[in-house]
Amino acid sequence: MRDPLLALRPWEAPEVTSWGRLPMNAVDRREGAHSLDGEWRFQLLPAPDAPVGGVWSTATVPGVWTMQDTADLPQYLNIRMPYTEFPPLSPADNPTGVYERDLDIPADWAGRRIVLQVGAAESVLLVHVDGRPVGISKDSHLAAEFDLTDLVCPGARAVVRLTVVKWSDASHIEDQDHWWHGGITRSVLLYATDPLHLADVRVEARRDGDLRVDCQVRDTGGALPEGWYVSGELDGPHGLPLARDTEFDRLNTQDERVSAFLGEARLRARVPGVRTWNAETPELYDLTVRLHRGDGTVADTSRHHVGFRDVEIVDRDLLINGERVFVRGVNRHDFHPLTGRTVAYDDMRADLVLLKRFGFNAIRTAHYPNDPALYDLADEIGFYVVDEADIESHDHAHEIADDPRYLNAFVDRVSRMVLRDKNHPSVIIWSLGNESDYGANHDAAAGWARRHDPTRPLQYEGAAKRGWADPDVASDIACPMYAPLEDCVAHALSGRQTKPLIQCEYSHAMGNSNGTLADHWAAIEATPGLQGGFIWEFWDHGILQSVTDGRPAGRGGAGLYDSGVAAPGYRWAYGGDFGEQDHDGAFIADGVVLPDRTPKPVMYEHRELAAPVRLDCFRHEGLVLSNHQHFRGLDWLAAEWELALADGGTLTAPAVLPDLRPGETAVVPLPFELPPDGGEAWLTLRVTTAEDLPWAPRSTEVCTPQLRLRDAEAVTRAVADPLSEPVAETAAKGSVEVDADGLLVHPLLSAAPTLSLWRAPTDNDELGGMALRWRTWGLDALVRKPVSVRRDGGSVTVVAEYAGAAGVVRHRQTFTPVEGGLRIDEEAELPDAFDDVARVGSVFETVGGLDLLEWFGQGPWESYPDRSAGAPVGHHCLPVDALFTPYLRPQESGGRHGVRRFTLSASDATGLTVSLDEPRQVSVTRHRAEDLTAAAHHDELVPRAGCVVHLDAAHRGLGTASCGPDTFPSYLVAPGRHRWSWTLRVL
Ligand code: GAL
Ligand code: MG
Repeated sequence: MRDPLLALRPWEAPEVTSWGRLPMNAVDRREGAHSLDGEWRFQLLPAPDAPVGGVWSTATVPGVWTMQDTADLPQYLNIRMPYTEFPPLSPADNPTGVYERDLDIPADWAGRRIVLQVGAAESVLLVHVDGRPVGISKDSHLAAEFDLTDLVCPGARAVVRLTVVKWSDASHIEDQDHWWHGGITRSVLLYATDPLHLADVRVEARRDGDLRVDCQVRDTGGALPEGWYVSGELDGPHGLPLARDTEFDRLNTQDERVSAFLGEARLRARVPGVRTWNAETPELYDLTVRLHRGDGTVADTSRHHVGFRDVEIVDRDLLINGERVFVRGVNRHDFHPLTGRTVAYDDMRADLVLLKRFGFNAIRTAHYPNDPALYDLADEIGFYVVDEADIESHDHAHEIADDPRYLNAFVDRVSRMVLRDKNHPSVIIWSLGNESDYGANHDAAAGWARRHDPTRPLQYEGAAKRGWADPDVASDIACPMYAPLEDCVAHALSGRQTKPLIQCEYSHAMGNSNGTLADHWAAIEATPGLQGGFIWEFWDHGILQSVTDGRPAGRGGAGLYDSGVAAPGYRWAYGGDFGEQDHDGAFIADGVVLPDRTPKPVMYEHRELAAPVRLDCFRHEGLVLSNHQHFRGLDWLAAEWELALADGGTLTAPAVLPDLRPGETAVVPLPFELPPDGGEAWLTLRVTTAEDLPWAPRSTEVCTPQLRLRDAEAVTRAVADPLSEPVAETAAKGSVEVDADGLLVHPLLSAAPTLSLWRAPTDNDELGGMALRWRTWGLDALVRKPVSVRRDGGSVTVVAEYAGAAGVVRHRQTFTPVEGGLRIDEEAELPDAFDDVARVGSVFETVGGLDLLEWFGQGPWESYPDRSAGAPVGHHCLPVDALFTPYLRPQESGGRHGVRRFTLSASDATGLTVSLDEPRQVSVTRHRAEDLTAAAHHDELVPRAGCVVHLDAAHRGLGTASCGPDTFPSYLVAPGRHRWSWTLRVL
């Protein structure tokens, strides 16, 4: 007989969202459950209706088969579907995993209700037990439960089969921008309850201490037994008992419609002096709810963490407990470089701990409900969560949003998310999904969510069809993506703003990116109506891959990477690396952390922009210190003063943080007497955690606000000869040596300083079109032609022309012997055609062995003109190899902004020192720009023995043009004349 589940062809039936599946609920059954995780028998069929009967291998559950030992590998596509079939159809070639294992049903489960829970399976799950059909479920990112009570026999063995179909009608609404996989991605459990059980518990806890607990009670035997009741207590047996809602009970008994099959019980409490929950002080209470039989014995128990808090929108402000909080968010996928999709609890915890240490306070679960543990951790560690439903029909957005065949699926996905996550204080907003146009299906889902949970706002980016003030039902928040900052500010100032403006995605973190983040935050903090946004995104989704056989390393790859770099023989794979014909390349590598969670430099920028303590200005009477938090004082912080003197090292002094409430400021005395000499002076407050916290051990750095106390003395630059000076030939005599081409000869330089206008294009440069322009102009291959070499006293002036396809740049260098070395005065004249180049500056290469860089300037981490707010000025020191950020697709990397001088030295203390006329952008790496450009992956780079040193008179900002706005005009390199000077000395 044909299997009825297969006969339904549920993979091409969008109306069928489930069959035989239990309603979603918020009762946590993990405690006491039997884990079915581990090795399952496994077969990969070519299509869902292909016969099972081949050879069984094994597969790990949870885990996608695309990362295990099968021929079906991951594929990365952003928008395009991986096949041409129109919704709701699937391709004939449709990998289908059949997972099977034995279940030993404990004998003492006799008389109990037995439930199978499959944490998540993508994209269609069919369940059989002993060959009998049990159920169907869709939604690759939510659990499905099936009642097996009548299908299994306690004390006996049963065989459970989970068939997972990869492509389906549902894939068309799971077209999110990440890797396509197939398999079971979250844990599988088997648990038993009393037939009389809590089917759902809903907790509402308000900031005034009002607590309401609504319980749904069922009995699998049928009618509920006489006399059942529910009790509850907060914070353990000696805590606060909850009272029955007598008014509700009275109305229930009078109401003829109350059935003996659907039990509802309500509990109430008012918690005196409640400690409210917010992301800064995530106070949680423990709630225990018990379901009793008539004789008082306990039939079922449900435990919850409760956070008392309110979310509301008042005018155009989103308020948490009455406070207009800034949303410093990030978009987070469930991702891991070894498993693809499955994230272990410890990994999720590590994600959140890292985010917290870098000043983030919010997460958007892009673009589907994340693993349930994520929300527990967000409650505990303190994050505001925008919980997003698993709906993205990107490639067919327009067709699906109004297609009634998909109506069930929209409502099903939103409602099941709400039912699952409703009790988490961290969840402050529901999101209807992502990039699915806007249609009636959205409004249907919005209607359900509003009625069911009036305590939280809704958002949906696609709803703003008629602008951000559109009064559509699907979005209470104006949540655009990658909106130009000036548009956001203009909207907030327009007088027409009706909703809080919190960008659901902004500052695209692909490669070396996130320029202008500081400008964004300056505007957000200064403009009422703007409340923040969610950076795109947390991870670079590089999959650890063996270079030899091209396969994902899988779980066996643990430890095969360090500090963002894959071990020899491995690399971080991105789109196209698994032989996919259609793919979207490195667009999958757009996170603020590298695939192994190593923070990219932008994380430090973010941390500083989120600083809870600020040093805002310096007045004669002292320093102004302020508390920039919303809810707490500074008592969780410790601090130390540091004074960095350009010419005198760094002094430290203990700091006492004043007792400041949120928003308050205090004037504190200057902690140091400024020494009369020492040049530029910078004062830093190094702020750390004062005690161990759940997310940071004591002394973890929190921020380093900084003020300049004294300027540098003005540098006198040699009066340069105009570029048009006539050519004069002189013999190569004296202490400056140049070769026949006018190139400096120097014992420590393996390549003389020449002009550079180009950088290895960043992803932003490539996707924003700048790199193409630079190539068209010929900036990547300028041809240098010496024009003149002239000696004047001890100095030598070399004029050269650098010819590109679209223009010629005249460049003059004057080398003047100074005490201990050479001063180099340079000038370049860019034609008007070169109106947006990557850089104007010098590049040279050193001999090998100079492996340590010490510098006075911004650092220690990488910084660029439009991403330098988080890199304090000071004396820094790093090995040259540690300066470089291993972005997945090699590109411009390792820059340091605002460098005043640097020393490159060998272990025997020989080396060179460079002093710059002004704070300049400097980079010291092992790679020429063309080396970086030629490589597609980091492992292809062959480090040079010497250093490639760039020092730039001007360097273009990074912006975010790979997806979103470019840098601001003020960070562009202007055409015309650029002058810079530096001194080179040998140690
Ligand atoms: C957005 C989208 C994200 C991602 C991002 C670019 O349009 O919502 O899923 O594709 O752009 O990385
Ligand atoms: Mg998309």
